Amino acid sequence: MRIRRKAGRRDKALNNYPGLVFGDLLLAEQAVRQKRSGGGWRQLAVEIGCGKGRFVAEMATRQPGTLFVAVEMEAEVLFHAAEKIIAAGCENVALIAADAARLPDIIPPGQVDVIYLNFSDPWPKARHSKRRLTSPGFLRIYHRLLARTGRLVMKTDNRPLFEFSLQNLAGEGWQLLTVGWDYSFRDNPDDAETEYEHRFRELGTAIMRLAAAPGTGWQPVSSCKSAADADGGPSGCHPAPAGPFRMSRPGGWQSGPSERCGSHH
Ligand SMILES: C[S@@+](CC[C@H](N)C(=O)[O-])C[C@H]1O[C@@H](n2cnc3c(N)ncnc32)[C@H](O)[C@@H]1O
Repeated sequence: MRIRRKAGRRDKALNNYPGLVFGDLLLAEQAVRQKRSGGGWRQLAVEIGCGKGRFVAEMATRQPGTLFVAVEMEAEVLFHAAEKIIAAGCENVALIAADAARLPDIIPPGQVDVIYLNFSDPWPKARHSKRRLTSPGFLRIYHRLLARTGRLVMKTDNRPLFEFSLQNLAGEGWQLLTVGWDYSFRDNPDDAETEYEHRFRELGTAIMRLAAAPGTGWQPVSSCKSAADADGGPSGCHPAPAGPFRMSRPGGWQSGPSERCGSHH
């Protein structure tokens, strides 16, 4: 019975939102290409594992100058995300039912300004470590997708996953921009709360956040405050550790305009 209900919700999500929800990679690739060329959006952001879509709906509303592509491998939850996007009146979103590993089939290399990983599944067993969204295989995919000044932003409540991510970013030669071990999104106007984050914050759980860049289009910075400013000002920020990590700031990153979705176009 549960499986039938899940299949029903999956069909509902995939069939009822033409132009917003895509289950077919070829159609998704075409849609993103067309939206990019026709929409006049200045930035391209990708959220991986968007779940029920609270984050992408809020961010797309706040940043109408950015096209948001959200991928989620559990298609049935995209029903909730689609309803939120429609309620917000946002045209700058594409919701794609796909594994993040398929992103290179949807977006050409070097096009993405920011990739968000919000409360990714921790996959605690060692034999599942390749499924973690900050394993080296996924980091290489992100590197390929990101523009020269692009960045990866990750939030989690899971310390082992956070430490695993820091290790892999160092191992893959990424530059760490900010690290927050007890991060409050309220201090960051360029961030929004996710469904999981809301639950964890109510429980008083510390949230960790990092921003990192793979490329060379970044200048070093000397203090946490500068890096936080460059990245929208997360609190609970600490300077990145010495050694393989280096503090730096983006050159050329601009956050989206402040008007709401409905005023775009
Ligand atoms: C713990 S939930 C967090 C949902 C949401 N980001 C939030 O913070 O409320 C993680 C989500 O990531 C999705 N996910 C995990 N691995 C994925 C992958 N490889 N590609 C796409 N989505 C993935 C899961 O299906 C799940 O919906």
